[in-house]
Amino acid sequence: MTENNFSGFHKKKVSERQEILKKATQLSEEETALLSNGSLDLETANRMIENVIGLHSLPLGLATNFLINKKEFLVPMVIEEPSVVAAASFAAKLCRSTGGFTASASDPIMIGQIQLVEIPDLEKAIESLEKEKESIIEYATSVDPMVLVKYGGGLRDIEFRVIESERGSFLVIHLLVDVRDAMGANAVNTLAETLAPRFEKISGGKVRLRIISNLAVNRTASAKAIWTQKELESSTKGKFKGKEIVERILDAFAFADSDPFRAATHNKGIFNGIDSCVIATGNDWRAVEAGAHAFASMKGSYKSLTRYHKNENGDLVGEIELPLAVATIGGATATHPSAKIARKILGVTSAQELSCVIASLGLAQNFAALRALATEGIQKGHMRLHARNTAVMAGAKSEEIDLIAKKLADEGKVRVDRAKELLEELRGK
Ligand code: MEV
Repeated sequence: MTENNFSGFHKKKVSERQEILKKATQLSEEETALLSNGSLDLETANRMIENVIGLHSLPLGLATNFLINKKEFLVPMVIEEPSVVAAASFAAKLCRSTGGFTASASDPIMIGQIQLVEIPDLEKAIESLEKEKESIIEYATSVDPMVLVKYGGGLRDIEFRVIESERGSFLVIHLLVDVRDAMGANAVNTLAETLAPRFEKISGGKVRLRIISNLAVNRTASAKAIWTQKELESSTKGKFKGKEIVERILDAFAFADSDPFRAATHNKGIFNGIDSCVIATGNDWRAVEAGAHAFASMKGSYKSLTRYHKNENGDLVGEIELPLAVATIGGATATHPSAKIARKILGVTSAQELSCVIASLGLAQNFAALRALATEGIQKGHMRLHARNTAVMAGAKSEEIDLIAKKLADEGKVRVDRAKELLEELRGK
């Protein structure tokens, strides 16, 4: 697949886009048809959660232009907000001249927490537990309750933390578990429950909670990209000088990194990208969000998940790092038909590669928002795209939608009442 197959993709009809995608990614007829039908059937849904009463659909879009670690990616995004997919594709396009995104992911190590209270002597307990650590790891490897070892994962290490609380001091044990291509919640929780009685016996305390931590500090993904002054300048059709745009974006970053009020919105923009691909691939977006927001607060206040600086050429360098517990096997990634198609479209070979794509998408989304906010503002572009929604809300159908949307955007009045007036005029003709 090359970039060129997808030029002008946004101007095509949905059916034409599906055809291009089918050719580029070898989707079968059946898979392509599933794209139009929303794909999840009631029976599967009924097996996924409780008290099912129906299905809830959202648009599935495709971000283009993503060059990550020298490999081309098409990124499926499930989101209800206009302009997000366009912004990600635009940001990815603007950094292609410098090689696109460079991304990496740590080993997929999740933390399982075991809380032990009422330990008679904490120091002595930790000493005894340290002595038994290797034999506990050996035991965990031999029982392998969730078949991780077979696939190259398993319990890697055990850490001990004393926590002071309003109910006194207690011990928290961290199981560091390599979960390979799984999200890991089931594997980690099962292992924590399996090992807890041993820790209880050695420490002389009582086990309370045994559960995964979503603050996956040992399972992070990072991405980096460079946007040149030249690309930045032409992105505004010369309205702003490249050098000035770099300075403006650095000011925007400084704002987010020093003010939690701004950081919340800045990071929300990052999650416009991240969540949409996490959802498209059937992953747990609440886990990813909770982990990343906690990670953003680890320096004592809530901060930006991205960082920006100027390189020796005066070009803009953007970076992101965040915990990304995403899977390519298990859970909804295995049961949801669209999630399976999304994975095929992505062509990722592991959960680590998926997290590299998602980190790059988050960075792209953030860069796009900052570029717009720091120059002409976001409303102009956003309203142009929102105009289509407004036209639909006013009752416009098929060709009417684009005609009404264009008029609304040209007039700068993207409102349902105006859309209704325009629709009446159009139909009157
Ligand atoms: C809107 O969904 C996201 C932004 O508010 C992000 C930001 O302010 O950086 C545009």
